[in-house]
Amino acid sequence: MRLSRSGYSAPLSGQACRLWPRSCSTGIIGKDTRDRRKKNVNGDPRVLRELDGYLSFELTGHRQYLLHAATCRHWGFSRLADVQHDYSTEETTHAGRIMARILLLGGTPSMKSRRAVDARDTVAGQLDYDRELVRQAIDHLRAAIGLCEQCSDFVSRDLLATMLDDEELHLDWLDKQLGLIDKVGLQDYLQAQM
Ligand SMILES: [Fe+2]
Ligand SMILES: [Fe+2]
Repeated sequence: MRLSRSGYSAPLSGQACRLWPRSCSTGIIGKDTRDRRKKNVNGDPRVLRELDGYLSFELTGHRQYLLHAATCRHWGFSRLADVQHDYSTEETTHAGRIMARILLLGGTPSMKSRRAVDARDTVAGQLDYDRELVRQAIDHLRAAIGLCEQCSDFVSRDLLATMLDDEELHLDWLDKQLGLIDKVGLQDYLQAQM
């Protein structure tokens, strides 16, 4: 059994179920219905380009924060490593949702990274590097949301808006960390991250 977004259970292929019509022998929808549906949701190429462009930020972010998590753990800053690991996981989740949307719209995710991920040799350097990426991702998201609106692709717009919300919170967290380093000094900040 699978759970749909609405929380109802959907039958697996060929499985009888009281919630679904008997004529639907191949599962939730038949092949003809699927083909018609696919034609109906073919995406605007401009939206697909923006989604794919944003996917490259998510893939870069996932790799960058994973590297920062591992490095922080290696240096002994476990608390910071846990947060970086959570951000890496968040970007993986975002990337998966963008990929699903691209596929639904008839596209193919390109899986390109935005740029190479270079190692940084200090915690402050890592936080600055992350801030630069998140700042650029937010700029890209704002432009992409505007384009989805113009193309009347409201589902893609709403999907990107939820990611903008997450990235603004991410930027706020980074600003707070860099602000704390300024206020309490690097040594005190790092001591709190062990
Ligand atoms: Fe993200
Ligand atoms: Fe993020």
